[in-house]
Amino acid sequence: MDLSDLPNIDPDRFNGPDVDFLKLSGAADHAPRILLLYGSLRDNSYSRFAAEEAGRLLNAMGCETRFYNPRGLPQPDDDDGSHEKVTELRDLATWSEGMVWSSPERHGAMTGIMKSQIDWLPLKMGGVRPTQGKTLALMQVSGGSQSFNAVNQMRILGRWMRMATIPNQSSVPKAWSEFENGRMKPGPLYSRIVDVMEELVKFTYLMRGRTDYMLDRYSERVETAAQVRARVNKTD
Ligand SMILES: Cc1cc2nc3c(=O)[nH]c(=O)nc-3n(C[C@H](O)[C@H](O)[C@H](O)COP(=O)(O)O)c2cc1C
Repeated sequence: MDLSDLPNIDPDRFNGPDVDFLKLSGAADHAPRILLLYGSLRDNSYSRFAAEEAGRLLNAMGCETRFYNPRGLPQPDDDDGSHEKVTELRDLATWSEGMVWSSPERHGAMTGIMKSQIDWLPLKMGGVRPTQGKTLALMQVSGGSQSFNAVNQMRILGRWMRMATIPNQSSVPKAWSEFENGRMKPGPLYSRIVDVMEELVKFTYLMRGRTDYMLDRYSERVETAAQVRARVNKTD
């Protein structure tokens, strides 16, 4: 495990997932693919810095990570979906096995930038499900005291996108005091991000290979059977 880029980490306490256990269960044949989204376009965006810290931790835990830059993404429905920024976002979501969403809190809510990204992700594109059955970790930053408005809203959004949203989450209050030169200071708020990423990696391994099983639903089986019956009746 390469910890050279993580000066705040206690190497004796930083385990990452027990990959030997996971190998035994056949779940660890490739690195977890995690997509990180953030909800701000500011140059000195703390929600992006927090996502970048998460990305470094995930890399150290053996994950492959990718970031999406929301700059230039059209507003939902202001394009037919063929815009290159929309295609890029959908391709990244399809590639991923899990996601991190990191939003600032603005006016007691996640930002429109954060929400727009999710609104461009359909539940189904042909046979592909870009979000369903994938894992999700939530993070927010605020300028004021600690609050959970954005993560609570994103938790609802995660449910709507049928994602396995992990229980632990990160909320960084007074974000302006927690970062220096783009890096997060050590302390309990940083340790919490380590916890959240550890949990995300574990859940991603546990979900691997079980997505179809988890997404198999009675109501959809009934619907599919009705469609098949209708097609057969039409050709009779
Ligand atoms: C329009 C606006 C509304 C904001 N509303 C809140 C808020 O409701 N609660 C809060 O704690 N901080 C609020 N803030 C502060 C932001 O959360 C803070 O500046 C944060 O760092 C922005 O995220 P970013 O650094 O990723 O751009 C607000 C900032 C702006 C510009």
